[in-house]
Amino acid sequence: MNNLGPIGVFDSGYGGLTVLREILKELPEYDYIYLGDNARAPYGNRSFEVVHEFTLEAVNYLKDRGCRLVILACNTSSAKALRTIQQIDLKHSKDEPFRVLGVIRPSTEIIGDLSKNNCVGILGTEGTIQSGSYKIELEKFSPNTTVIQQACPMWVPLIESNQHETAIGKKLIENDVYKLLSMSPAIDTIILACTHYPLIINHVREIVGEKIQVVSQGPIVAKKLHEYLQRNEFMETKLSKGGSCSFLTTEKASVFNSAAKQFLKQAITAVQIRL
Ligand code: DGL
Repeated sequence: MNNLGPIGVFDSGYGGLTVLREILKELPEYDYIYLGDNARAPYGNRSFEVVHEFTLEAVNYLKDRGCRLVILACNTSSAKALRTIQQIDLKHSKDEPFRVLGVIRPSTEIIGDLSKNNCVGILGTEGTIQSGSYKIELEKFSPNTTVIQQACPMWVPLIESNQHETAIGKKLIENDVYKLLSMSPAIDTIILACTHYPLIINHVREIVGEKIQVVSQGPIVAKKLHEYLQRNEFMETKLSKGGSCSFLTTEKASVFNSAAKQFLKQAITAVQIRL
């Protein structure tokens, strides 16, 4: 692994595109490969073992394509697979430098500072919420912050199938937001802890009103990645800088292309691959 390589950005489906969009704004000079495992999405309700297996397959694929750094732009993968990949799977790799980073750690580093009441609401997939990752990480960075969580198992399927704006879709979203709010009147900050959710941020903002701020992770992850590269020259100098971005999906490419537009706000041409 002596050549320069791109940055891989992985998600179970389209959600990671909301993170990629912000990374491209913050760090346009690098080369990127986006991989969405749309054929097997959603990951949210899958077991630890399966999420680990699928995520590792994607990471290995991106590594074989020459990536030096892979961002798991998926909270479910970050919660259920990242630690094992970093501590066990990559430990045996002699190919250095190759790193995999997630989206939970960079988010929890700053979440505590965003809340005036020290009370934060987390909305995520069943897998992310059940893993307790946000509570565990926030305990390290902001031990005084109370974390209130609500799983939203229907949101990713609704967004992936473009039904989040139907009457039923909106009702399902409202129900989960009200469940979160009913757990504490002190919540003044809500984190959209799933990379699919920025697509419905306006709806969530309408439901909660102006007194509660609703935060999406894309800009946070992009800024933290920038800082990571400034701190880690051994990695930064291994990244190619051609300003390119290619898109891979395990779904039919034409399906991905048309749906990806609303996440990335630009037309793209993806290539279908098998993991
Ligand atoms: N975008 C993924 C996340 O951030 C969605 C997971 C899923 O496929 O359910 O968790």
